[in-house]
Amino acid sequence: MTIALSRDSELSAERAEARERIYAMPLEELNPADPDHYPTGDMHVIFERLRHEDPVHFTAAEHAGDLGHYWSLTKWEDIQAADSNHELFSAEGIVALNRPLTAEEAAAPYNDGTMTPEEMEVIRARGSRSLLSMDPPDHEAHRGAVSEGVSPANLSAMEPLIRERAGAILDGLPIGEEFDWVDKVSVELTAMTLATLFDYPQEKRRQLTHWSNVFTSQPGPGMPAETQEEKNAARREWFVVLLDIIHRRRSEEPRLDFLSLMAHSPHSQNFTEAEMLGDGGVLLVGGNDTTRNTISGSVYALSKNPEENAKLRANPKLIPSMVSETIRWQTPLTHMARRTTRDVEIRGKLIPKGDRVVMWYVSGNRDEDKIENAAEYIIDRKNPRHHLSFGFGIHRCLGNKLAELQLRVIWEEMLARFPEINVIGEPERSHSRFIKGYETMTVVIPRRN
Ligand code: HEM
Repeated sequence: MTIALSRDSELSAERAEARERIYAMPLEELNPADPDHYPTGDMHVIFERLRHEDPVHFTAAEHAGDLGHYWSLTKWEDIQAADSNHELFSAEGIVALNRPLTAEEAAAPYNDGTMTPEEMEVIRARGSRSLLSMDPPDHEAHRGAVSEGVSPANLSAMEPLIRERAGAILDGLPIGEEFDWVDKVSVELTAMTLATLFDYPQEKRRQLTHWSNVFTSQPGPGMPAETQEEKNAARREWFVVLLDIIHRRRSEEPRLDFLSLMAHSPHSQNFTEAEMLGDGGVLLVGGNDTTRNTISGSVYALSKNPEENAKLRANPKLIPSMVSETIRWQTPLTHMARRTTRDVEIRGKLIPKGDRVVMWYVSGNRDEDKIENAAEYIIDRKNPRHHLSFGFGIHRCLGNKLAELQLRVIWEEMLARFPEINVIGEPERSHSRFIKGYETMTVVIPRRN
């Protein structure tokens, strides 16, 4: 079958060879979760093919690397329907599509070095839990415990602080020379905001970034944790710090930071330590990589699309809609995974009870049946908040308004300072099936004459 291929502003022309290769593969061999597809952008081609030829796709264990078999939903309608139906698609014990943890890995945060293999196995069998991997009624208690941290009133109170910090970061940038935008701006601003949300010492903010980076990456050479042991040690370190803070907050006056809210919530008396660790982890990762990669993505996308950049600079009122378009186009979290609670039929495919189903937001956001010219980056779309990137249903992103606020503020401050930001070469993209982002991105801000 031949199909009209859309121009994807994230794929370079050299990828024509990859397109041919992917379209020549037997369908059943397609493994959209292979992290190798993400730095190259090849996943867009795989999803494009799946949306047309096999929208509810089964990857058998023999083609799934170390992941085990799983199902992929690639069309907007199916993703939205599954995400909105927590009774049929349960989040219990599952967030992203991952290799199942060994007992040693599962027990790592709690293991002070004295645990027996049997004790570790008990922890593995119990599974990890956080607000993002719970069904009702527990989910409501856990989400309710922290939601005030991002209430409209709290966000309004935070805005001047975010603006001041954003301004200070931008004023400290080198002008007329190359530097890494990811490290100097995106990471720095999100780390500062995260430290504020946790009321964590600002001077130690990069520790939060480090933990988040470790949790969301596979250990390996050059990665934030080079070995599984290092990753286990970092998880234990975070656990000890987090619990210590929560215990201290309990003896202090209630405040509006996430950890104080958790400490004082009437529900949290019943939370286990493992659940608090889980919730803390979701808040940490949720507030970190996502926003960071959207900040970098906006600079990258505008540099690749000069006509959109010109529109923005001519009319700064487009900032909020540019922000939403970037969140759609970037899709900082590629997917969430669920488990079916009974046999389900979708588009003639029978998904058995208990199987993992992956809701690929990164594919739904480029579904031409739902979004016109979906592969393109267009900052003045009619309905820019119409995207899947924040999910749907009871788990819809708790921090979505905060993310939009940070992006809006930094862009207001950037437009006020820099008439031009030039991306040099191609950014280094993250090797991850879950976090769609950038490790480094070299830019130059030209000197004004
Ligand atoms: C552009 C930035 C962001 C994106 C794309 C994003 C995306 C997502 C997605 C896809 C989900 C799961 C939705 C679902 O399962 O239906 C989620 C949940 C969540 N996000 Fe975000 N997020 C962003 C920023 C943030 C920020 C800044 C925070 C603040 C701490 C945050 C906190 C959370 C929390 C706590 C959840 C779990 C909600 C629940 O399970 O009830 N996120 N986010």
